[in-house]
Amino acid sequence: MPSTTRRTVLTAAAAAGITVTAPGTARATGSRRGATGNTPVRELFGRLADGTAVHRWTLRNGGTTLRALSYGGVIQSLETADRHGRTADVALGFDNLDDYVAKSPYFGGLIGRYGNRIADGRFTLDGTLHQLPVNDGPNSLHGGDRGFDKRIWDVEPFTRGADTGLVLSRTSSDGEAGYPGTLAVRVTYTLTPRGAWRIDYEATTDRATVVNLTSHTYFNLAGEGSGTVDGHLLELAAARYTPVGATLIPTGELAPVAGTPFDFRRARGIGTQDRTPHEQTVIAKGIDHNYALDKGITARPEYALTVTDPGSGRVMKMYTTEPGMQLYTGNFLDGTLTGTSGRLYRQGDAFCLEAQHFPDSPNQPSFPSTVLRPGRPYRTTTVHAFSTR
Ligand code: GLA
Repeated sequence: MPSTTRRTVLTAAAAAGITVTAPGTARATGSRRGATGNTPVRELFGRLADGTAVHRWTLRNGGTTLRALSYGGVIQSLETADRHGRTADVALGFDNLDDYVAKSPYFGGLIGRYGNRIADGRFTLDGTLHQLPVNDGPNSLHGGDRGFDKRIWDVEPFTRGADTGLVLSRTSSDGEAGYPGTLAVRVTYTLTPRGAWRIDYEATTDRATVVNLTSHTYFNLAGEGSGTVDGHLLELAAARYTPVGATLIPTGELAPVAGTPFDFRRARGIGTQDRTPHEQTVIAKGIDHNYALDKGITARPEYALTVTDPGSGRVMKMYTTEPGMQLYTGNFLDGTLTGTSGRLYRQGDAFCLEAQHFPDSPNQPSFPSTVLRPGRPYRTTTVHAFSTR
């Protein structure tokens, strides 16, 4: 079957709640056992209070299993093998929809329109002041109270060559969450035959706006709920980071990491650094900072970092087109959330690495611009590659 035809079949099948297992054969979805081969499988995950169905899609390829929700594009679980071939879920999450709706600190969420903070929830664009509702002290964080991570997405599965994946799309209306412009968004999650997870973000607008999309997955390469990530080693190709003020808004400075706990140019233990007293780690209760990647903005995803868990041997490398990387070491996890496997998540039990433009760019003329205008599509890509050593 030509790939375009096959894609159409899959799309139509998805709409009908059917998964195509091989050309010409179909069976109903609903198995909790997940995908067979590399064909995405859909199941009901739960219902919102208004009855809206939320589906969970399972993708398998190259030894990686990724489960994503139509609610918030949430990465609900991500299984990879350790050096002995034993799999574990390396992404923090919940086993039920209600917890995602009621109390998720952006676990696995697809963040928009604006990843991280905008000072006082306010920015001026082409001479017009836009006031966003604030949701993090005086600031707007991650698109506000009901950002993209709390919206229902249309999801279409695909298989293309040896790749398998999902296309998530939705239109954010003019004025949604205070942002100008109708934004048509399309995000593609792809699992490659080598088990890498690739995210392609695309958006277009009918009026000037600001956009900064990212994924807020909390990782623990030893397995979610297994303890702290203090012993994980991080190597991050960034000589500078953006220091912040008391409410975690960048001061505008690009400060050298040399001689500070922010220096990961050579692999170092996350815990040895984010537990090192420094004016900036005190403000953020650890590390919760944006790095200016040495490579800057690139047309193709380029190397940004490597995280290694010496215990399990799991290694994650990230490549991105983006100029920034937020490192957040789970500083606000406080033991009040029970995760997927029934264990409490406590401070330092995960790290987030959010490829992005810099926080508060709409108010920081010296940062790379996050303005999107009609006729010029937004396109960024981030790849997570998994291996062992
Ligand atoms: C981002 C922010 C953090 C925190 C987390 C979610 O990483 O930078 O300050 O808000 O999201 O808790």
